[in-house]
Amino acid sequence: MNSPATWDQETFAAAVGDAVWAPSIHNSQPWRFRRTEDGVDVLVDQRRVLPVSDPEGRAARVSCGATVFNLGLALAVAGAPAVCTVRPGGASVHLARDVGRAATPLERRLHRQIRRRHTNRAPFAETHVDAGVVTQLEEAVAREGGWLDFAADEPTLTSLAALTRQADAQLRVNPRYVAELRAWSESADLAVEGVGRQAAGAAPHPAELMPRRDFGGPEHDDTRDPTRGPAVAVFGVHGDHAVDEIRAGIVLQRLLLLAADLGLAVAMYSQPIEMPVVRERLRLAVRRAHSPQLVLRFGYAPTTCYTNRRPVADVIVADAVG
Ligand SMILES: Cc1cc2nc3c(=O)[nH]c(=O)nc-3n(C[C@H](O)[C@H](O)[C@H](O)COP(=O)(O)O)c2cc1C
Repeated sequence: MNSPATWDQETFAAAVGDAVWAPSIHNSQPWRFRRTEDGVDVLVDQRRVLPVSDPEGRAARVSCGATVFNLGLALAVAGAPAVCTVRPGGASVHLARDVGRAATPLERRLHRQIRRRHTNRAPFAETHVDAGVVTQLEEAVAREGGWLDFAADEPTLTSLAALTRQADAQLRVNPRYVAELRAWSESADLAVEGVGRQAAGAAPHPAELMPRRDFGGPEHDDTRDPTRGPAVAVFGVHGDHAVDEIRAGIVLQRLLLLAADLGLAVAMYSQPIEMPVVRERLRLAVRRAHSPQLVLRFGYAPTTCYTNRRPVADVIVADAVG
């Protein structure tokens, strides 16, 4: 018999099926899910933390936060919403049943975007992102305890782009970084993880304003810069500890699903976050007390190819629930 304090196996497995469509660094999917007597635990899968790009597990925790947000939405829409508590140390998150409330219309809307949202590395249209849309995104992030600072003028955009370029150039000359990136974009089992050629977009052009990470996409002869024009923002939360990184992922996923709901395409950049000196310069550039967690580029573009995910059975840890 199932404990009334937790979800039944079927609801849990179906919700995990949605949760795994969260974004993760290099599509490494560093998460595991376990049903317990009093709810569900989402655990950071330490075996999947990237040793070179993410030695401290920061990006893995952000990725886990994103999957937690999806899981919460899926459970809410299934009729049994959750309240989540990030455990001290940030190695796991506990979700408990939030009895006596139904899914909100916004939760339903965001849930519908879980499998539509994807990282878009294709050229964005020149179409301007409306000031009203920018405000909506900024306010949504602020309400959840984060901050999202759009480059409001050309000099700010130029300096954010310069920092991203600087970090990207430093990373590219590290053979261990290049080998790790190749492992996730070429030799990885692309049917279930990693970033394949189609999702990679065209190979980054040396002169592009916001240098995309090189996932081995095909060379192209279009001389237009696919990253020029749209809106660039720096994202973070009010804290720098492991628990804040999980929270950052939770807020990030809400932001990404809202952006998808508004018809926006999003590209992500963590090169400047991976280089401590550059990350600090980025923090100073946006005048924030805490370190940024990601740089994002928003715009309009057709849907590109989706990445894949491991089967649900591979990410569920056997539980001991009677
Ligand atoms: C913490 C974090 C950092 C990321 N950094 C980058 C990045 O630097 N460049 C990039 O193209 N995508 C980046 N991504 C996006 C992932 O590559 C993407 O989420 C993953 O491949 C799954 O694809 P999807 O987002 O299309 O579902 C990042 C995602 C997360 C969660």
